[in-house]
Amino acid sequence: MTNSLKSKVVLVTGASRGIGRACAIRFASKGANVVITSRNQINLQETLSEMKKVGNNNEMLLIESDATDQKKIKSLIREVIDKYGTIDILVNNAGQNISGSIEDLDTTKLNYIFQLNVFGPLWFMQEVIPIMKNRKSGQIINISSIAGRRGFPFGGGYCASKFALNGLTETARVELIKHNIHVLLVMPAGTDTHFNADTIKCSKDFEDRSGISLMSPDYVADKIIKAVERKSRTVVIGSKGKVILSLNWLSGKITDLLLKNVFKL
Ligand SMILES: NC(=O)c1ccc[n+]([C@@H]2O[C@H](COP(=O)([O-])OP(=O)(O)OC[C@H]3O[C@@H](n4cnc5c(N)ncnc54)[C@H](OP(=O)(O)O)[C@@H]3O)[C@@H](O)[C@H]2O)c1
Repeated sequence: MTNSLKSKVVLVTGASRGIGRACAIRFASKGANVVITSRNQINLQETLSEMKKVGNNNEMLLIESDATDQKKIKSLIREVIDKYGTIDILVNNAGQNISGSIEDLDTTKLNYIFQLNVFGPLWFMQEVIPIMKNRKSGQIINISSIAGRRGFPFGGGYCASKFALNGLTETARVELIKHNIHVLLVMPAGTDTHFNADTIKCSKDFEDRSGISLMSPDYVADKIIKAVERKSRTVVIGSKGKVILSLNWLSGKITDLLLKNVFKL
């Protein structure tokens, strides 16, 4: 396969650690000019030095920003355009988990999660779509989750945000076909990052009872980069995730019972 990513301008949100960092490093190793963003400057610097180790004089840019702030997103995009003149690939990766039973979900906290997991990616898409339409090319990669296709016990708030992101992503894909803008929906299963530790908890005594084994962020990033290169529509990452979504497609009722048992309800 030819290296379709060489010299592309790639913007990765939530690149200070986890899946976003692993993706940014892979894009850099493919010769892309990678722009990384999130709130934590120190962690972003670590990502930047990892990218420089694998890059080949490709240009990197670090921009500290908050993906829940539309004004900051607009100025970030202006900064990228001032430096590179365009954005070829947007990876909407920044996101956070919220847990708790439906009964206990705190809607103020859930509102924040929607700002980050739904409105943030939407605002980023709204900024890059006109740029990509003008050039009649571009790629938008939205990092959702298997929780965007199937509801999980104690994950109702997070699932709702990722279902919303899936809806935006599938709609954008069809709206943008004629403009030659490719939209990829990524749905990973459990991955070993800070995601669980950073969970906003709404049920006091909640603990994850699923006992699911986790994938490495490097593994997930490899799958994402391959899907970007192949211009896939959707990628589900993780065999257990694939089994759950396939089972759910065949029988939602059996999946309900399975999850009831797995979560010891
Ligand atoms: N880990 C999993 O099991 C899993 C499974 C499926 C899908 N996902 C999805 O994968 C994506 C990446 O998650 P991860 O697992 O890599 O988690 P992570 O290690 O917690 O990383 C989350 C990233 O998002 C950034 N972020 C959080 N709040 C932000 C804000 N307000 N503004 C800007 N950036 C913000 C964080 O950086 P700063 O703190 O520096 O801002 C960090 O770089 C998320 O969308 C998540 O929903 C994760």
